[in-house]
Amino acid sequence: MNNKRQIIQVRDATTLAQAAAQRLIARLEANGGRAAVCLTGGAGPQPLYRLLASDTYRSRIPWQHVHWFIGDERFVPSDDPRNNMAVARALFLDACAPPDNIHPIPVQAGTTRDAARRYEIALQTFYGSNRLDPARPLFDLVLMGLGPDGHTASLFPGDAALDERERWVVSVARASVEPQVPRVTLTLPALASCREMLFLVSGENKRDILARVLSGESLPAARVRSRGDTVWLADAAALPEIRDDA
Ligand code: 6PG
Repeated sequence: MNNKRQIIQVRDATTLAQAAAQRLIARLEANGGRAAVCLTGGAGPQPLYRLLASDTYRSRIPWQHVHWFIGDERFVPSDDPRNNMAVARALFLDACAPPDNIHPIPVQAGTTRDAARRYEIALQTFYGSNRLDPARPLFDLVLMGLGPDGHTASLFPGDAALDERERWVVSVARASVEPQVPRVTLTLPALASCREMLFLVSGENKRDILARVLSGESLPAARVRSRGDTVWLADAAALPEIRDDA
């Protein structure tokens, strides 16, 4: 496991989306074959999602070869505006990606546990094994956000999901932030199985929690690491000063 993280400061939310798009494209180019990207929810990635559908970036993505997953989901119908994959679909996937390459968490399953089990099987089928091989990452890129309480994906401080070592996907009964609906989330080992984990952190309202993460507090967002590269992209409002204690 590579425990280091790289911190990159950019000017603002627009530059952050551009830098993220460049990194995504670089990972797809490095793969050259069938690639997998794990998306994230929340407001943070939305400028990036819009950008990927724009003329400049759309033509640079080999859509037929890229598969799109999601790191966590709110257990609401697939057309609910709070549904993370619904947002990604509306902003870029439906316009750009072949439908078979879009892999939502099945919120139509009866329970969050069923949905978690089914998504785990979908990931294992895609990967071709139910054991993660450190030499063969599940994802090329995993996008992550930072919640106000230090959560990431739907891994909330103090929740048992954080200690899961075997399962790839679990259900989370209660979210400690809005929307307070049950969730389904990938676990630390599944998220870690990537060539690059890319956190997107933008805006002044992230400044305090980002400082806590970077100061070493044991928050979920600080605990999750890629087996490959872990990169934090933050804008100047969220990270006024670059720290050297990463
Ligand atoms: C979710 C997310 C969650 C999100 C953070 C940051 O489903 O809510 O995946 O982990 O990334 O809460 O969200 P914002 O970008 O909206 O601040």
